[in-house]
Amino acid sequence: MNERALPVEPERAHLLRLDTAVTLKRFAHVERALATIAAAWVPGVRRLESKAALARSCWHSATTARSLRERVFELRYPDRSLDVGDARSQLRVIESAIDAPGGAAAMHALASVLLPALRRAFQSYIEASDDVADGPTLSFMGPAVAAKLADESALTKATEAEMTSTEEELAGEWAGALRRELEAVGDVGLDAPADTGPELAIPGGRTYEMPQVPARDERYFVSSFYWPDNFDPSWPYGEGLQLQLRSAVSHLNEVWAVDTAAVILQQLEPRLGWDFLFDAARWLYDESRHMTMGKRRLEWWGFQPGEVPLGSYIYEACRDQDSIHRLAMLSFFETKNIGKKRTRSAELGRLGDVTSQRDMDFDWADEAIHAGYGRKWLREALRVSGRDPEAWPEVVARCEALVAERVAAATQQEKDAVTALARALIGRAHSVASAG
Ligand SMILES: [Fe+2]
Ligand SMILES: [Fe+2]
Repeated sequence: MNERALPVEPERAHLLRLDTAVTLKRFAHVERALATIAAAWVPGVRRLESKAALARSCWHSATTARSLRERVFELRYPDRSLDVGDARSQLRVIESAIDAPGGAAAMHALASVLLPALRRAFQSYIEASDDVADGPTLSFMGPAVAAKLADESALTKATEAEMTSTEEELAGEWAGALRRELEAVGDVGLDAPADTGPELAIPGGRTYEMPQVPARDERYFVSSFYWPDNFDPSWPYGEGLQLQLRSAVSHLNEVWAVDTAAVILQQLEPRLGWDFLFDAARWLYDESRHMTMGKRRLEWWGFQPGEVPLGSYIYEACRDQDSIHRLAMLSFFETKNIGKKRTRSAELGRLGDVTSQRDMDFDWADEAIHAGYGRKWLREALRVSGRDPEAWPEVVARCEALVAERVAAATQQEKDAVTALARALIGRAHSVASAG
């Protein structure tokens, strides 16, 4: 006869502490992979809404990964190892989604296969757990489910707009094959996935390569340069109405920073690790918000996208450069004008344009954070590459030279086109202002 014991409360019989830690560690790795895939495809999608949806999904995945990692550390104290363990095959399938046949296909897979798989796993976890034993996990997992649902919906909408009819069939077949592979190793959940060995072949995919030329939204006036002051230092930034317009165009054209933050996340995360992932995802999300600030203001004023220039010369200047140079480019060129933002914000306030002022103020706060990221991670990236961390000024100087070279290569024809477009836009802005 068994030793006598008081009965178990059935609803609280699941998920013991160490099993919980193993499950949460698996989820953390899946979130890390999803953040990386979302970032990797930002420069590969054309539409600004697609870039913004991927950036937001990346940031949500990274913030949940951070909470999961912290919780694993708490549950396994003092053990701080995060080895993949029994999830190796499952992670290999998920990570293989980076090799999508195209940007629309990657978004489709995230929206219809990968995010729902992890969301369902979170939902099962919430059902199996209870807030007396494991309240700290549930406090972030509920919001993570809501974030997944919002991202699935935003990415589905973005996919519908981004996908061309020629891409559709291949994207559907490839995502279907990915789903079947994931089912074969055991869907993401509370149980340990199967180990299926190293072979993995998802037909229809294409080995991922970081785009050297970012995809651009063809509704806009797509050009390398986006304003005459990019190549003509005598062109004034402007005051009054011209400052309002230039600030919005400037925000929209942070699209290069969105693409750059995305590629450095994907390229440097394997070398710099979890803490870099968290900062880079926030960096990416912030730049996508800055881009959207400009987009919204220009739309609100009634400009058509075709009247508005959308450039990429700073991204292009980094062609074939390593990711450390891209990181330096983002650190330097995005924070270069930080000192002017206070004055510009005050001038916008004086004009009564509280929307632009508010955008500028929030942007200023973000850029102050990014300056810290740049200082920290540029040194760290040099250190892990076996270079002197204090050699960062040389890397920044090289970036300045690369941009100067790209500017010097501008043709008269492209300069004339951008100048004509800027003049027309300023003219239109005067008409909008007098009509209002
Ligand atoms: Fe920015
Ligand atoms: Fe920035």
